[in-house]
Amino acid sequence: MNRFENKVALVTGSTQGIGAACAIRLASDGADIILNGHSELDERGEELIKQITDMGRRATYLQADVSKVTDVTKLINDAVASFGQLDILVNNAGVEKNHDFWDVTEEDYDFVMDTNLKGVFFGIQAFVKYCMKEKRSGVIINMSSVHEEIVFPHFAAYCTSKGGLKMLTRNLATELAPFNIRVNNVAPGAISTPINKKLEEDPELMENVLKNIPLRKMGKPEDVAGLVAFLASDDATYITGSTYFVDGGLTYHYEEQ
Ligand SMILES: NC(=O)c1ccc[n+]([C@@H]2O[C@H](COP(=O)([O-])OP(=O)(O)OC[C@H]3O[C@@H](n4cnc5c(N)ncnc54)[C@H](O)[C@@H]3O)[C@@H](O)[C@H]2O)c1
Repeated sequence: MNRFENKVALVTGSTQGIGAACAIRLASDGADIILNGHSELDERGEELIKQITDMGRRATYLQADVSKVTDVTKLINDAVASFGQLDILVNNAGVEKNHDFWDVTEEDYDFVMDTNLKGVFFGIQAFVKYCMKEKRSGVIINMSSVHEEIVFPHFAAYCTSKGGLKMLTRNLATELAPFNIRVNNVAPGAISTPINKKLEEDPELMENVLKNIPLRKMGKPEDVAGLVAFLASDDATYITGSTYFVDGGLTYHYEEQ
């Protein structure tokens, strides 16, 4: 399917996990791809570039720490310069820290909030300035979490950042609609990626998680990528300002015991 022919997508934090799956899926649907990570290009990144170019698409890698406003602004501008345009921005990079609330330091808080919320805010701002200057439409997808809606004790900063993304998306969808820029959130539940390695290695923890998921399994990064591709496509031109859950039923799960 070539629904993204002549489109360029930037996916932040895309050398592994959900970001890598989004990059592959958008490329297989026809987009040229800009990959991003905060370290130098490594073997995983090189392998992804090869996979994408083997599909006949263009791919490049831009190193940038999206938690820093100067870096993320430069990332957007360099992404535009890479292939001459930018149509789709997937704000995927995200981090979490497990702490009792009373032990969270300012450094822990900034690490999570700067990556998950501040970087997204200013990355979108740079993208919007580009779209307005060039009079182009744009599509923004923020990788939120079921924890923009449901609690996650010991992850207060993470929940705060994803809750912030929820309101950022609602607000920007309204403010940017006159410029034909759509903004949506994708909210994954428990997805099998490196971020969940410890969880998946612990059978007891896994049993606890699975009993809360009506479909009784972890999701795959590809499950999330399919939703991202839909929201980025012209099938979703009337969709903006909402969150779409990909969680096996976790968020609104309820059973009588
Ligand atoms: N896996 C899940 O179960 C799950 C559930 C809900 C939400 N999410 C969200 O999905 C997104 C991707 O998660 P994942 O599971 O693939 O995680 P992951 O840890 O496998 O991948 C995250 C990627 O982001 C990159 N990254 C982190 N900080 C960065 C920075 N400052 N600058 C640039 N890149 C940075 C990492 O290097 C990594 O490549 C995150 O926003 C996460 O909060 C994941």
